[in-house]
Amino acid sequence: MRCQSFLIAVVILVAEGCVSGQSMHAPEYNSVQQGVYSATQAARGEAVWKNHCAECHYPEEYSNGYLYAWSGENVFDLYAYLRITMPYLAPGTLEDEQYVDVTAFLLSQNLLPAGDAELAVDRESLQGILIEGPF
Ligand code: HEC
Repeated sequence: MRCQSFLIAVVILVAEGCVSGQSMHAPEYNSVQQGVYSATQAARGEAVWKNHCAECHYPEEYSNGYLYAWSGENVFDLYAYLRITMPYLAPGTLEDEQYVDVTAFLLSQNLLPAGDAELAVDRESLQGILIEGPF
């Protein structure tokens, strides 16, 4: 039995290796300090903000250290919060890509560095990215 479950584990590991080898996954990041979104993505997020958020919010409201309040949470928590609660009168009505882009915009507004990668609509990878200062 032991041997069997070991074999199953090996098969799963190998299978996962194949999957991640095929899909061009961005490198793994574990902190918002590592350039986890791109400037292009933040610009798309800004457009989402203008169209769907700006009627109620100035970006300044959520800039300049706003994310300090989210320290210790992960990027999925922020993304999920936006997706579940915003826009306030029509929560969840945007595409997942729009939520992840607007999340990137909030990171940029909090002076977190941009990089080459984009935040992906992928629960696991977003959960792996810690929100931490300095902002
Ligand atoms: C119709 C008005 C309205 C729109 C549109 C709207 N919001 Fe909000 N937003 C609110 C209100 C009201 C609150 C306060 C909610 C609360 O405290 O329960 C809020 C809170 C927030 C917060 C702060 C949460 C916190 O407590 O730290 C963020 C971030 C946010 N909104 C982002 C967005 C984004 C991103 C969009 C666009 C996708 C958006 N909002 C669209 C009204 C709106």
